[in-house]
Amino acid sequence: MSIAIELTRALPDADEVESEGRTPVDAVGVGVFADRLDDGDVPEGLDAAFLRSQGFTAKPGQSCVVPGPGGRVVVALGLGAPADATPASYRKAAAALARAAQRQTHLALDLLDSVPEALDRPAVAQAVAEGVVLGAYRYTALKSDPEPSHIESLTVVGRGGKRVMAALERGRAVGEAVRVARDLVNQPGGTLTPAAFAGRAEEMADLKGFDVEVLDRAAIEAEEMGGLLGVNRGSTQEPRFLKLSWNPAGTSRGTVALVGKGITFDSGGLSLKPSDSMIGMKGDMAGAAAVLATFSALDAVQPSVQVRGYLPLTDNMPGGDATRVGDVLRIRNGTTVEVLNTDAEGRLVLADALALASDDAPDAIVDLATLTGACMVALGTKIAGLMGNHDGFVDQVRAAADAQGEPVWPLPLPADIRSSIDSDVADIKNISGKRWGGALVAGVFLQEFVGEGIPWVHLDIAGPADAAEDDGETRKGGTGFGVRTLLHLLSTFRKPAPAGRSS
Ligand code: BES
Ligand code: MN
Ligand code: ZN
Repeated sequence: MSIAIELTRALPDADEVESEGRTPVDAVGVGVFADRLDDGDVPEGLDAAFLRSQGFTAKPGQSCVVPGPGGRVVVALGLGAPADATPASYRKAAAALARAAQRQTHLALDLLDSVPEALDRPAVAQAVAEGVVLGAYRYTALKSDPEPSHIESLTVVGRGGKRVMAALERGRAVGEAVRVARDLVNQPGGTLTPAAFAGRAEEMADLKGFDVEVLDRAAIEAEEMGGLLGVNRGSTQEPRFLKLSWNPAGTSRGTVALVGKGITFDSGGLSLKPSDSMIGMKGDMAGAAAVLATFSALDAVQPSVQVRGYLPLTDNMPGGDATRVGDVLRIRNGTTVEVLNTDAEGRLVLADALALASDDAPDAIVDLATLTGACMVALGTKIAGLMGNHDGFVDQVRAAADAQGEPVWPLPLPADIRSSIDSDVADIKNISGKRWGGALVAGVFLQEFVGEGIPWVHLDIAGPADAAEDDGETRKGGTGFGVRTLLHLLSTFRKPAPAGRSS
């Protein structure tokens, strides 16, 4: 359900609502800065001593509910110290409101007029809309007795007129796109089969104004995608490959290709995972979900760039005719790959997708993949690994992620790793057989399939694609990680300068 957002200069009083036909607000979120709370200086309707007695210190994301006039709920929302405030602090505050007031219907948010001068007000407004939409999210599709959020509308109090209103609308569209990705990640692999995923993409394409071409098994064979077909061999479900396409209404600054790993369930194949490691593997299509979700918001966000999407979809199952350890697959670009571990399947399907994307000669490629446990060992569960073949473009992606509060950290692609995946019988093998640097080995493998001279960035999202607990705008389960970064990247995209190889 979508949340309606409006902007107003002043919060309507409880009693002028009926007479003027304004939205009857039943919960108001009010921003509180930490230092002002310490000085006892808090907005009208709040009591500093009471808030402190409840353990409220105005940390970003913290909230405290107090009764307000006329049966309204008032929610104090921590913003931290003004000097440290970023759009991310406001996103967290707005999400905290959505969570604290989930039983209310019409929310208001009063914090824009105290935004520190140093911050970009539209960026804050966008973050606030994202925060409410994301904080209100929950996955209830399979609950007999769901407790859905009741929130229907958000009235934002503040100056700023058209620019702020446009930012709020953009934030709502971005937030809704992230929810699309979360729903896909949370849906079990037994029902979100490759064909079902493709069906969802077709529905969404009609609704949201982009094009989708669905390649079935025969078309995938015709395109010689031996990696995708090899991973699919142990499954009773047919693979699909989706080609997405969107063009801006106005001028274009180039073409960006987005590639997403779409393993709808990863059992490991014949190199079967132990039971505990299989939990969560319904989310091994989070990269593909993030790309499809990004397309769902393009018409609303209107970046000045042509966008193409490439999504290889299959599950990775250990059926009777599954790819055997030692089998050799031929990737679309002709490279032969010896499969020494069928659980290193993501790189096999991505190899085909990167090769196909490269054939269309985009100005840059970004891939997102829940690719390696090793990346989680390196960076933990909340930070994505960022690798690439072009320093300038790596910086662009990093800046977009930073601006959107999605944590990423650079990892290298050391050239000397390449020889560790030399194969005795084929051009390359899919694992190094050594224990160390697994995220880098995967990155170096993928690099082999990126066309000569095309700037490329790889985001290993194995950690942040899923959350173990609620945290700020994130809810337990699928996070939709990457959608905000991609939409920001596309909106600010500049063609990377030629050359500029890193590492
Ligand atoms: N989908 C997994 C990676 C993963 C692990 C994602 C944990 C999210 C959480 C991937 O296909 C995989 O199995 N990778 C192997 C690679 C290894 C066999 C070289 C891994 O990380 O163990
Ligand atoms: Mn795997
Ligand atoms: Zn996988």
